[in-house]
Amino acid sequence: MHSAFDASPITPAIPITFVTKSTWSEIAETLSAPAKAFATANGFNGKPGAWLALPDAEGAIAQVLFGLDDTSAKHHDPFRAGALPGLLPAGTYRFANAPHDTRLATLAFALGSYRFGRYRDNEAPRAKLSPPDGVDIAEISRIAGAATLARDLINTPSNDMGPEELAEAAKELAARFGADFNCTTGGDLVAQNLPLIHAVGMASTRAPRLIDFSWGDPAHPKVTLVGKGVCFDTGGLDLKPSSSMLIMKKDMGGAANVLALALMIMDAKLKIRLRVLIPAVENAVAGNAFRPLDIFKSRKGATVEIGNTDAEGRLVLADALALADEEKPELLIDLGTLTGAARVALGPELPPFYTNDEELALDVARAAREQNDPLWRLPLWAPYDAWLDSKVASINNAPSGGFAGSITCALFLQRFVESATSWLHVDIYGWTPSAKPARPEGGECQAARAIYALLSQRYG
Ligand code: BES
Ligand code: MN
Ligand code: ZN
Repeated sequence: MHSAFDASPITPAIPITFVTKSTWSEIAETLSAPAKAFATANGFNGKPGAWLALPDAEGAIAQVLFGLDDTSAKHHDPFRAGALPGLLPAGTYRFANAPHDTRLATLAFALGSYRFGRYRDNEAPRAKLSPPDGVDIAEISRIAGAATLARDLINTPSNDMGPEELAEAAKELAARFGADFNCTTGGDLVAQNLPLIHAVGMASTRAPRLIDFSWGDPAHPKVTLVGKGVCFDTGGLDLKPSSSMLIMKKDMGGAANVLALALMIMDAKLKIRLRVLIPAVENAVAGNAFRPLDIFKSRKGATVEIGNTDAEGRLVLADALALADEEKPELLIDLGTLTGAARVALGPELPPFYTNDEELALDVARAAREQNDPLWRLPLWAPYDAWLDSKVASINNAPSGGFAGSITCALFLQRFVESATSWLHVDIYGWTPSAKPARPEGGECQAARAIYALLSQRYG
């Protein structure tokens, strides 16, 4: 069970009563006269996010009131309860009445308990929740544990999370579930025909590699996950300005989320043959760095002209996708922090996803809504595919102009997928720029929860 939960508290759990502006007067009537007077004196009226601890006769906390949005509100945040761990004093609490969605509120409580504590005392919240009746607390713990993994990997700075450390984290995860682990490093990438992964990563003192692990019954349907593992993205020689480079430790967010997703899949023993591929590289600047207008032959055979060394994510994914595609998986999924354009289009909280499988698109959109892990479909707009044409090679990695940058990136990747039955690509952000309930500032588990829900429905 996740550490935010306490199933057998020593003292009775303190009740949390959820209140909205419209239920407040009714709930106030159920309080004792002094408690009601205390709430009134404190100006509590059920405003969303407002909270109040009511004392008992000894001055201990008798109960907590917490304001939620009215269901009729224009926007109602199902993760509102994720603010509670950061507000409440140490102790064990329980839900006295139902928040709008008990399952999501319980998950939010666990997600909101996260603090990144690797480098100093993280002052992690000490408020615990007694699991509400009827929620599958093992499942919620599994999901929250996966989010912790993704967040820790992303939040760890690049000096401690290079290609080797990322591979080590993947290896540990694989070992925990008895998966077969392989890693191809440095010059072996060239020997194994993974030239784009090598080209992007060769300028770093920390050797590039391809992480590859497989788990599950080989007779089950093949599902392959590919995650962008750029451990730091300077932009290469087309160097990023410092403001854009600042948070590029998070450029392995796709890899982190693929590992989080793999953790949930393996822990829940979904009936799939899972394969995880993570190209892990550092996009560094050095004398041997790849250059603008260099041309490399990709694994798939197509030659790629480098329009911009900062469009490195699609390069490393291209070789990994081509490799994945060779075994014709039933479902091929890639996640990566690929474009600034996706943020311009939809902002940090709503990653675009791409697929030509209509049924899959509906399932992804529904799972995203149900899990409060928002995703929004954008089109693989075929007319823009011509923008990727190069005058001297099969394809250019960075079309000039920059229109529809997330779409053209998706179209670039699509050129490397042909045999998989279905392909899903998500251009994630993997980062919460400023804290919200259940979403502490920093690395974020994004798309993994929604995709896990979808896979559970299909292969549970
Ligand atoms: N890692 C970046 C994308 C990114 C930037 C994600 C900022 C989140 C925040 C990626 O490698 C990149 O640099 N993409 C370029 C592509 C361009 C050169 C075609 C971009 O988006 O500017
Ligand atoms: Mn880049
Ligand atoms: Zn990048």
